[in-house]
Amino acid sequence: MNKTPIWLDTDTGVDDAFAILAALWSENAQLVGSSSVVGNVAHSKTFVNARNVLSYFGHPEIKVYPGAEAPLVIPVQDAAFIHGNNGLGGVVLPESTADKETVKAWDAIYQAARTHKDLEIVAVGPLTNIALTLMKYPDLDRYVRRIVIMGGSAEGGAWTPCGEFNICVDPHAAEVVMNCGIPIVMFGLDVTLKAYMDETDMRDIAAMETAAGKLFTDCMGLATIVNSKRIGKKAVAVHDVLPVLSYDHPELFTGVMCGLHVETRGSITLGRTVTDIWSECKFPRQNAQVILQVDRERFARIFKDILLRV
Ligand code: RIB
Ligand code: CA
Repeated sequence: MNKTPIWLDTDTGVDDAFAILAALWSENAQLVGSSSVVGNVAHSKTFVNARNVLSYFGHPEIKVYPGAEAPLVIPVQDAAFIHGNNGLGGVVLPESTADKETVKAWDAIYQAARTHKDLEIVAVGPLTNIALTLMKYPDLDRYVRRIVIMGGSAEGGAWTPCGEFNICVDPHAAEVVMNCGIPIVMFGLDVTLKAYMDETDMRDIAAMETAAGKLFTDCMGLATIVNSKRIGKKAVAVHDVLPVLSYDHPELFTGVMCGLHVETRGSITLGRTVTDIWSECKFPRQNAQVILQVDRERFARIFKDILLRV
């Protein structure tokens, strides 16, 4: 069966690193390129982190194209308190020896879309690069079949009482994406906070003799502290892995079609993803599938199997 060509846009951080790993090992998705965006930490770090993670997992040939260093409108925010100042929980990986790409993310994404014709964009950081691609290349929707994101939340929030980090960092970019006409699949906090590694899983991973298992154990300290408060027990959510794993294991997830938009003017609600799932009042276009449930036990088993491979 032909693999689906995917482009992975990350703000590599600790969970992005394992989204990259899942993409490298996917049987149904072909990672044709990647790009970095400002988010968890400054772009100068997310760019290097993505390069070094690809090299660490044995694929320095996968190119990382540099993207946005700031959101479209609002000031930069970061999540160093979760990802560490270097974005990888303080873990220092060997520097990738691959040539550093200078072509900008938005140009590279468009070229990849023109080449592959039915590209799928998987964005697991703020959506600034995707919005810039859409604004510079208005015909992008002819060549991109879906945009699959980790971001948002149908209910609740984490970065704010009603907002999730990736969307809150660049709500204006996110709303450009919601309005672009390309079908959206949203893996928000509703499902990613249910896809956690619990204490038993973390013990299993710590016992692994693999580079991936070691990296997970070494880089997830801060994320575990923050997530455990949120989840209510010792656990860590691997948010960004879900959209990538859905290519090989769609059966793990359930969701609903709905209208989906982003608040770009609120003071308290800026960055809130608003869905019409539970409302008789519907948005004009059902532009998104919002994923709400996951089979956590199976997800954890499959994710750990991937960590055992590298
Ligand atoms: O809210 C979780 C998201 O924010 C993840 O993508 C994590 O990497 C951070 O970017
Ligand atoms: Ca991320």
